[in-house]
Amino acid sequence: MHSLSIFTVLTSFSSCVLGQWSTWGPPNPSPVQPSSSSISSTPVYSSDATTYTNPVLEEVGADPWVVRSGDYYYITYTTQDNVTLLRSSILTDWNSAEVKLVFSPPENTSYTYSNWAPEVHYFEQYQKWYFIYTADVDPDHPSPQQDMLCDYTCPAVNHRMFALESSGSDIWESEYSMKAELNTYDQFAIDGTYFQHADKLYHIYSCWYTNQTSWPAMLCISEMSNPWTVSSPLSERLIISKPDQPWEKTPYNRTINDRLSSNEGPEQLTNPYTNQTFVIYSAARSDNRNYCLGLIELVGDNPLDINSWDKNEAGCVFYENPDEEVYGVGHASFVQSPDESEWWIVYHGMEDYLEGWSARTIRAQQFTWDETTGWPVFPRPGIGPYDVPSGQGS
Ligand SMILES: *[C@@H]1O[C@H](CO)[C@@H](O)[C@H](O)[C@H]1NC(C)=O
Ligand SMILES: *[C@@H]1O[C@H](CO)[C@@H](O)[C@H](O)[C@H]1NC(C)=O
Ligand SMILES: *[C@@H]1O[C@H](CO)[C@@H](O)[C@H](O)[C@H]1NC(C)=O
Ligand SMILES: *[C@@H]1O[C@H](CO)[C@@H](O)[C@H](O)[C@H]1NC(C)=O
Ligand SMILES: *[C@@H]1O[C@H](CO)[C@@H](O)[C@H](O)[C@H]1NC(C)=O
Repeated sequence: MHSLSIFTVLTSFSSCVLGQWSTWGPPNPSPVQPSSSSISSTPVYSSDATTYTNPVLEEVGADPWVVRSGDYYYITYTTQDNVTLLRSSILTDWNSAEVKLVFSPPENTSYTYSNWAPEVHYFEQYQKWYFIYTADVDPDHPSPQQDMLCDYTCPAVNHRMFALESSGSDIWESEYSMKAELNTYDQFAIDGTYFQHADKLYHIYSCWYTNQTSWPAMLCISEMSNPWTVSSPLSERLIISKPDQPWEKTPYNRTINDRLSSNEGPEQLTNPYTNQTFVIYSAARSDNRNYCLGLIELVGDNPLDINSWDKNEAGCVFYENPDEEVYGVGHASFVQSPDESEWWIVYHGMEDYLEGWSARTIRAQQFTWDETTGWPVFPRPGIGPYDVPSGQGS
């Protein structure tokens, strides 16, 4: 939360940068400054509020994923211990949302620990909802005999992807059960998402070269025959992005090796006017201030051919905003306003980045589309107040 003084000063500043298109991500991050916040303001929300401030949930929250179904928005995010779904008619206030425990893993399974980055997707042909998420057989403590085989310390080496299936077509009333582990060739896999193109389904997730390379964490794609079955053999798994740019390294422009260099949190985003298809992903390191969003565009017809992908090497498309004390922004999802006239990005960011992962909170802002390039135009991340989504509360 922000001190009142900063809140007031930045209100006018934010309105002039909101919507500004920038093609270049963070230059060398500005020098580390101590956080100046100490006094907390308590935002007041109600369904007829015309403005809101970030964060939109007043608790630690990371890896948000939002979907709209019927009259409600639903959000799920990393809780570590379970898969949780929140329901609210208000995209910009989750503090009084209804809470549903979707899945609580039993003890002693391959998915008991470190439940990360859940997403929930509806598949019309099955008339069911599928949660796709990351989990681990151990609480990020592989045995020393396993760890010693990795290039670097590898706490997350046993993370794999899993799919839960709903009992029916109602996202909220359904019960959810474990459907399958997704085949990631018995290698590290986190932050997986579904990617759909030309009636085919794919799995895009954060991967390593082998089961023990540890870094870099890259983006891999494989084909799926249904929401719980990967059909590509390992030989056809394709790496579509590596953290090979200075802004994808931690610290910025690290050159000595690939430690902490990450591409993760991929999400499909399709321009509704042009049908251009993008993967928006998170780059650099999630417990760091220079965590940001990168962009890859599908420019060919076959997502399993590297020539079909064009990565924006100019820099992050969404990145820290020290002027408003917003750092380490990433792991976004995308949704429309209630009247479907606007597009919104829901992401996590940090105020006190020195606290790392535990500083992350969930935030939301409107974004637009560039009429020339067809690319998403993300705002600078900020606190607001901003206008609520169009149609909200009406
Ligand atoms: C899910 O796990 C979180 C983290 O341990 C916990 O705070 C929360 O109460 C759990 N949710 C439910 C509904 O049990
Ligand atoms: C965990 O599962 C293994 C294999 O199924 C079994 O041998 C072991 O006793 C189980 N441990 C606990 C604590 O349930
Ligand atoms: C990687 O796979 C090999 C071959 O299956 C296995 O011997 C090794 O223990 C694995 N390494 C890790 C770190 O899991
Ligand atoms: C990255 O570091 C290298 C080696 O120190 C330096 O030559 C290069 O100019 C740096 N690049 C950027 C973009 O800072
Ligand atoms: C986008 O795709 C939809 C569905 O296939 C199609 O109806 C529409 O004409 C396409 N729009 C453009 C601009 O290509």
